[in-house]
Amino acid sequence: MIDSIYKVLEELEIQSTLEKSKKVNISSENRMLAITKETGELINMILRLKNAKNMLEVGMSTGYSTIWCAEAISEQSGKIITIEQNQNKIKRAKENFQKAGVTDTIIIKKGLAIQILTELSLQQKYRDFFDFVLIDADKESVIEYFDLIFPMVSVGGVIVTDNMLYPEKFREDMKKFSDYLKKNPKLRTITSPIGNGEEITIKLK
Ligand SMILES: C[S@@+](CC[C@H](N)C(=O)[O-])C[C@H]1O[C@@H](n2cnc3c(N)ncnc32)[C@H](O)[C@@H]1O
Repeated sequence: MIDSIYKVLEELEIQSTLEKSKKVNISSENRMLAITKETGELINMILRLKNAKNMLEVGMSTGYSTIWCAEAISEQSGKIITIEQNQNKIKRAKENFQKAGVTDTIIIKKGLAIQILTELSLQQKYRDFFDFVLIDADKESVIEYFDLIFPMVSVGGVIVTDNMLYPEKFREDMKKFSDYLKKNPKLRTITSPIGNGEEITIKLK
């Protein structure tokens, strides 16, 4: 891994640990709420195994997960489209991307996920387009997001969804989501205990 990326990931991991320790008082609006390092390693490995080029992320925050992905995607000269509604987090993410040297790999779409996903899904060029998707925004709408995303994923494409097991307050919504996926014959899915619990879904047809 190149030094600039490694350094920024490390800085953000320190911030994330502090945030979780509650030793500093960070408003809910400004929390990173990042994936764990283990999940970063997992998604980076999936991207590399797939030689993924086209990626979509729902819920960028300050860019920790995006940088893990950009590290793999940039080697394929690919692009990540990432969605975030919070202007302050977008500003912080842009600074992090600059420091890591991954700005050219990332296209930020500012706004509400439901609106942006609807806009993308109406464009023919995004049909069967994404090799990899990370879903990590508000949990109540996860099924709606998935339904908009699925037609935009290529056959063999992978969708990872964070927070399947933790925090526990999301468990009920995430269990409904997992049960919903299991009824769909066009995919195969498992709930992995890595990180905060990752749903790993592959599109079969
Ligand atoms: C769990 S955090 C994402 C963490 C990030 N994936 C990481 O690992 O660094 C969720 C993010 O989704 C954003 N978000 C929540 N609901 C959203 C919505 N409806 N539209 C767009 N962004 C949303 C929040 O502002 C927050 O930054």
